[in-house]
Amino acid sequence: MAKTSLSFVCQNCGAAFNRWQGKCESCGEWNTLVEEAADGASIPASIRSKRRGRLFTLESLTGKSADAPRLPSGMGELDRVIGGGFVRGSVLLLGGDPGIGKSTLLTQATSLLARQGHRVVYISGEEAVAQVRLRAARLGLADAAVQLAAETSVEDIVATLSEGAVPRLIIIDSIQTMWTDTVESAPGTVTQVRASAQALIRFAKKTGAAIILVGHVTKDGQIAGPRVVEHMVDAVLSFEGEGSQQFRILRAVKNRFGPTDEIGVFEMTGLGLREVSNPSELFLSARDLGSPGTAVFAGMEGSRPVLVELQALVAPTTLGTPRRAVVGWDSSRLSMVLAVLEAHCGVKLSGYDVYFNVAGGLRINEPAADLAAAAALVSSLANAPLPTDAVYFGEISLSGAVRPVSLSSARLKEAAKLGFGRAVLPESARGDAGSNLGSNLGSDAGLILNTVGNLTSLVADIAAKGKPRKTDDAAKASPEKTTPEKNTTPARFRSGER
Ligand code: TYD
Ligand code: MG
Repeated sequence: MAKTSLSFVCQNCGAAFNRWQGKCESCGEWNTLVEEAADGASIPASIRSKRRGRLFTLESLTGKSADAPRLPSGMGELDRVIGGGFVRGSVLLLGGDPGIGKSTLLTQATSLLARQGHRVVYISGEEAVAQVRLRAARLGLADAAVQLAAETSVEDIVATLSEGAVPRLIIIDSIQTMWTDTVESAPGTVTQVRASAQALIRFAKKTGAAIILVGHVTKDGQIAGPRVVEHMVDAVLSFEGEGSQQFRILRAVKNRFGPTDEIGVFEMTGLGLREVSNPSELFLSARDLGSPGTAVFAGMEGSRPVLVELQALVAPTTLGTPRRAVVGWDSSRLSMVLAVLEAHCGVKLSGYDVYFNVAGGLRINEPAADLAAAAALVSSLANAPLPTDAVYFGEISLSGAVRPVSLSSARLKEAAKLGFGRAVLPESARGDAGSNLGSNLGSDAGLILNTVGNLTSLVADIAAKGKPRKTDDAAKASPEKTTPEKNTTPARFRSGER
């Protein structure tokens, strides 16, 4: 029999080394190597012995499956993200910060399924049965026929679930607490998490039950331990939200059976998570109408248009290197827009701190937000409120040109639906439309379309309406070229000194 070989496995990335070292050469983390039995070393010799392979039948793609391939949970926002329902035999990983609401979401989803008469099982490795019951009671779901257990042994779980009807959905909350006898490492280690997940995935594929594995996320936003599980599962969902905000966003990071650009929006209330089917209203609800520095961006989240408020604060700095703080957007994207404003539009920002925020805790990834961001920045700098009935979208190129973006008509329709009166959009969005966009737009409930070909003209438009700030009398808000009478004092737009 082979000698049990030991190796040192990084608990962050799963890389294995022959000897211990302080720093993982693979991911650069310190103190993450732990001695574990190498994969396969603990497989019983009886299994490793040379056995002849068993014959199995090969199936065709068009074969019949017993049940409907997808099982919708009945929570519209959850179903949209997973692509229309739980696929038979699929395994999902749900990651999120502690306390974000993963257990709440899954309690609600399982209860809905149980009420439809499906067998659903909730295995909690973290909370006692009484605690899960207490939560269900708070949510008013105590009457749902969810089967509950507080267990951590994968062998026991698989044995129990193999009895009786195959469950349609099994929740494992969480995968870090599970352990299996087949490996020797302590629960929570990479080897244990990987082996436990493998066993559960095997069970799902064999029986056709869908499984959701809950995974915790570490400080830097990676799913600890379960990171190594990501490639094994069919879909990775992440549940996000700012701690202080009520909104929670469910996002698919990977999905073998559906899109990855859809989001589900929820609101955490005293009675659990409430679905928000019209997120635009949510993100715009507490809007500061008419204050400088805010612009409404007509964005897309997957197939759904979402209007969201972008907020910028540009304030004189007291620091040698001005601050650039961004929440909800890419900071290098902000730097790019600031550089274009500075290089092509004569907007001097080097003497100003810039704070940028996306309202409601949403995270924007689209380049289409550039134009709205630039409008918000210039509006704050010039102390010029933007029209409250306008939406903005468009990508800014490094030359300062405003480039067209996809799905313009969906964005415009949403804006019209929510009562906006005008849209500021790239010039060519109209041109390419000649064919269909133009005609569609005409019917968009009379939105006034202001097309911009270049950022410079938008900046001049906004700055022309600027008022001097109370706190900043020395500087005037408008660029010299648009309002020459204000040039007697140094204009903010030209003041490059620190
Ligand atoms: P939970 O689902 O336990 O989070 P996770 O499983 O992701 O760690 O949610 C915990 C938080 O949600 C907790 O801070 C309380 C809050 N909460 C509500 O606000 N309302 C509710 O109805 C419930 C059940 C929880
Ligand atoms: Mg939990």
